[in-house]
Amino acid sequence: MPKPFWTPHDSDLRLPLIGSPMFLVSGKELLIAQCRAGIVGTMPALNARTPEILDGWLSEIRDALATPHQGRTPAPWGINLIVHRTNPILDQHLELCVKHEVPVVITSLGCRPEVNEAIRAYGGIVLHDVTNMEHARKAIDRGASGLIAVAAGAGGHAGTVSPIAMIEDIRRIWDGPLVLSGAMSSGRGILAAQALGADMGYMGTAFVVASESLAKQAYRDMIVGAEAADIFYTDRVSGTYANFLAESLVRAGIPLDSAPVEREIGVMDEFKAWRDVWSAGHGVGPIRRTEPTEAIVARLEREYREAAARIGAMQPEPA
Ligand SMILES: Cc1cc2nc3c(=O)[nH]c(=O)nc-3n(C[C@H](O)[C@H](O)[C@H](O)COP(=O)(O)O)c2cc1C
Repeated sequence: MPKPFWTPHDSDLRLPLIGSPMFLVSGKELLIAQCRAGIVGTMPALNARTPEILDGWLSEIRDALATPHQGRTPAPWGINLIVHRTNPILDQHLELCVKHEVPVVITSLGCRPEVNEAIRAYGGIVLHDVTNMEHARKAIDRGASGLIAVAAGAGGHAGTVSPIAMIEDIRRIWDGPLVLSGAMSSGRGILAAQALGADMGYMGTAFVVASESLAKQAYRDMIVGAEAADIFYTDRVSGTYANFLAESLVRAGIPLDSAPVEREIGVMDEFKAWRDVWSAGHGVGPIRRTEPTEAIVARLEREYREAAARIGAMQPEPA
């Protein structure tokens, strides 16, 4: 039975943080490096080209994380399933998650009770991505173990609601596991997520530049040179709104025009579109160099501790 990791008290985590799954960016090397560095590591099932390859990767991940690394017990790991009606290999991906008893499954673009039941039956945790309250209510009704609030400014398919408002709204209807996603690239951001009422942070863009990611060097360089104003929210790439590095859109000939194009295409086609343009969230500012995952997590830990000490120092003396 995987150990729960929802509060710092019952966790082996170095930080209350999930390295989020990123299409074409997070593979098994990044996942393993994140878990070894002490945060939950994840990747999308679709990053393995076929279910057979995924089967092999899941065995490799399990073996790699079965033993302590440099004196530290690796953190739990997770796989992202795209639960959209246009994903033709969802059933095979789900079967593999059950076979390998993947500790954490992150479901996106759809929440199905039978998927949740299959994961929870072996003791797995299912976290569902939500961008609004309608999706949050559905996920709770359909048996997700926890929610990931994907707020404005996130990399990938971001929401449009402020993270502050989103956590307040969700916490009025849900006291279970809650993770905050969006524009968080420093340890200060993780502490802020906890201050708002989330249990953990969820961080993608900061790990695009990790040495172990699958991103091209030009993509990493564009992130390192960017600030929030360089990110553009558009549905012109695939019909679904997402955040991209504006420069990569311009290079691909996609106009910086935010008027909706309102076309729907399938998940598999959408992902092909992502090869030529690069996604990132508003939180590019604190990301200043390409470095190994261990160094990124060490920076996050230092920033988290410094912020906690600063806030602690602001507390009034007890009367
Ligand atoms: C390049 C990229 C690819 C992504 N691909 C996926 C994906 O395949 N599945 C998914 O659930 N989320 C995906 N996301 C969203 C992230 O999981 C997460 O919500 C987001 O990265 C958090 O915001 P941040 O990038 O500002 O840290 C992607 C994000 C990025 C930047």
